[in-house]
Amino acid sequence: MAALLDEIEPLKQSALGALQSAADLPALEQAKGAFLGAEGQFTALMKRLGTLAKEERPAAGKAINAAKVEIEAALAACREALELRASAPKVPTDFTAPGRRRSLGHLHPLTQVTDDIVRAFRRLGFAVADGPEIEDEVHCFDALNTPKDHPARDAQDTFYVGRGEPAGAAASTGAVGGTLLRTHTSSVQIRVMEKMPPPIRIIVPGRVYRRDNADATHNPTFHQVEGLYVDRGVTVGDLKGTVEFVFRELMGSDTRIRFRPHYFSYTEPSFEIDFSNALVKKLGKDWLEIAGCGMVHPQVFENVGYDPEVWSGWAFGFGIERIAMIRYGINDIRLFYENDVRFLRQF
Ligand code: DAH
Repeated sequence: MAALLDEIEPLKQSALGALQSAADLPALEQAKGAFLGAEGQFTALMKRLGTLAKEERPAAGKAINAAKVEIEAALAACREALELRASAPKVPTDFTAPGRRRSLGHLHPLTQVTDDIVRAFRRLGFAVADGPEIEDEVHCFDALNTPKDHPARDAQDTFYVGRGEPAGAAASTGAVGGTLLRTHTSSVQIRVMEKMPPPIRIIVPGRVYRRDNADATHNPTFHQVEGLYVDRGVTVGDLKGTVEFVFRELMGSDTRIRFRPHYFSYTEPSFEIDFSNALVKKLGKDWLEIAGCGMVHPQVFENVGYDPEVWSGWAFGFGIERIAMIRYGINDIRLFYENDVRFLRQF
């Protein structure tokens, strides 16, 4: 009996020593096995308990258990220390190294161009108006004097989300006829004039939708800015002066503007606007078509309850992507929507 009791302390000490001197986790596991494993020295000691006299067993068992608890605590502490060391970086920290720079994001190029357009018009006293992207045919087409057989109304060109009677969401917007994703921001002209009496001076930047296949110059979703000015005695001269001012602000003071006769059902007369400057020349062109515009058609005034004998006005609409592409020399419209930071970072 005395022999077994005397063996406990030295065995414990050598177990603790072995654990402490383990250099890494595998070595620690090996030391653990040598003492606590099935063939371990400490296990062997415990097995010998049975050979003791009955009255000697409690004292010896207690001493062995106490030693075992101590060894297991030491094992846990050593394991934690070695794990910590294993997860530490191999290369020591250089506290004198410069900090990591956090890169700041910025506005999307289309947002930047939109903001510039809004800023230019604000200087002329225009307010920003807004309207729904899910529209009805009346606001998108009928009230704009766009005939039933106009190609823009064809399902090939327009995303319809409901047809026929106003129902569900369509009914709650007071939709009449089919419901669709607006094909242009011109629908907001009608919404604003329905709500407010003249005079009116608004621009409408916003998202529009068409059934176009995506290619370098088309995308089913893109952005436009609409402009509408209604007052007494408004002329084409006002329109041209305004457009010239804004495009010089946007595209540089060397920008020239040209009006070409065109047809839109909601304006009479109607024009397409071409512009020219150094950027256009760089593209090997003299003029680039940039916008549609004209004097608001008397029928459109009638449709919103304005007296066309009293009020006159002009409207225009142009694509924001097109302006951004020319301004930044971008040759593929799809780059705007891919959210590739390597592209976006450049603006
Ligand atoms: N809505 C036309 C389009 O999407 C652009 C446009 C032309 C708007 C003439 C107008 C306008 O307000 O008067 O192509």
